[in-house]
Amino acid sequence: MLKGKHILLGVTGGIAAYKSCYLVRELKKAGADVKVIMTDAATRFVAPLTFSTLSEHEVAVDLWSENQSTRSEIGTRHIDLAAWADVLLVAPASANTIAKMTFGLADNLLTVIALACRAPLILAPTMDADMFLNETTRRNLDLLNERGVFVIPPAEGEHASRLHGPGRLPEIDVIVRYVEGVLEKSYQDFRSASILVTAGPTHEPIDPVRFLGNRSSGKMGFAVARAAAMRGASVTLISGPVHLETPRHVKRINVETADEMQKAVMEQVGSADVVIMAAAVADFKPEKPHRGKIKKIPGEVPDVKLISNVDILMALGEKKNGKLLVGFALETENELEHAREKLKTKNLDLIVLNSLQDEGAGFGSETNVVTFLDPDGNTERLPKQSKFDVANSLLDRIRLKLKK
Ligand code: CTP
Repeated sequence: MLKGKHILLGVTGGIAAYKSCYLVRELKKAGADVKVIMTDAATRFVAPLTFSTLSEHEVAVDLWSENQSTRSEIGTRHIDLAAWADVLLVAPASANTIAKMTFGLADNLLTVIALACRAPLILAPTMDADMFLNETTRRNLDLLNERGVFVIPPAEGEHASRLHGPGRLPEIDVIVRYVEGVLEKSYQDFRSASILVTAGPTHEPIDPVRFLGNRSSGKMGFAVARAAAMRGASVTLISGPVHLETPRHVKRINVETADEMQKAVMEQVGSADVVIMAAAVADFKPEKPHRGKIKKIPGEVPDVKLISNVDILMALGEKKNGKLLVGFALETENELEHAREKLKTKNLDLIVLNSLQDEGAGFGSETNVVTFLDPDGNTERLPKQSKFDVANSLLDRIRLKLKK
């Protein structure tokens, strides 16, 4: 997998920088071509000469290198390096560099390249346990991960400071395997696929100001759309009302109600090979939304009659036309049983079960705990992961089913 691959390795300031020398050696042994960029702080821990000897390339440190003789060389070096990379791996990634990347600062060669690079970015956060557990660092990593940056969970153990906890650089072979996994995905394994994703809640109007809704944040569906686009799929995302950025290279269609979502799905589904219904479509809607705002009358409550919404997924399952259909199920009790029932009645190829019972799962959370179920009776429960990682695991399973 690594043979002939271009790995741009960013090394930031931290005592673990010395371990990255072994990382270069292992990546090279596996056949990769490695170029190293160091931050100023990293050079305080390890000399650039060590990395240039191991990588057999000049080490880039300075954005304004004096070795660059012409203006144009200085002007485009970061773009050339960014374009060269099949993957940008930052290991160790310090809290400072992570914070800069979160806010798009570009004040050294590494952070400039991180902005310019189209290849996947992998971070191996490495720092003292308290710095790693600090809310700011956690939030920064969540934001980056939400935007499609891969984050390798750090190892736990004793730090140079003698503190115990998470924040240590993972073992070298763990990092190498992670890079292989990302390269496999960025291999554009969905290049010829067209994927339709729905996300978010629907809002069913009661009157012009009030609606019936649910707590879906849309994060899971957006993560699926982002991951699929990164893996080369042509992605259409039909989204209910949410406050999320549209992932790069994704065509987004905004809707409010279940009826609007159904109309958009039916318009877009023709060209799709895969439909992933991550939206929490409201099952009921007020029969007749009031034209004007319902006024409060003392001693009275309005009588809002509810009727059923269309079940979009059920309708798709009745006429599959060779499409692969994936549903989500959010359950609070008898989870597996209910999910299996939905898989069958909606004629799905895969269902992703979330249980509200699980800590770190469900609405608004950055992480998810899911179980995949398929019609062959396979049941696979994944450990707690970020929604972006769950999205990639889901796509891995879908790829296998498409191959069949
Ligand atoms: N779904 C849909 N249209 C609806 C309701 C749900 O397409 N009107 C889809 C969801 O997007 C999801 C799957 O069906 O992929 C399961 O949704 P869920 O709400 O868990 O199941 P329901 O069938 O609505 O059953 P219940 O609410 O009773 O659990």
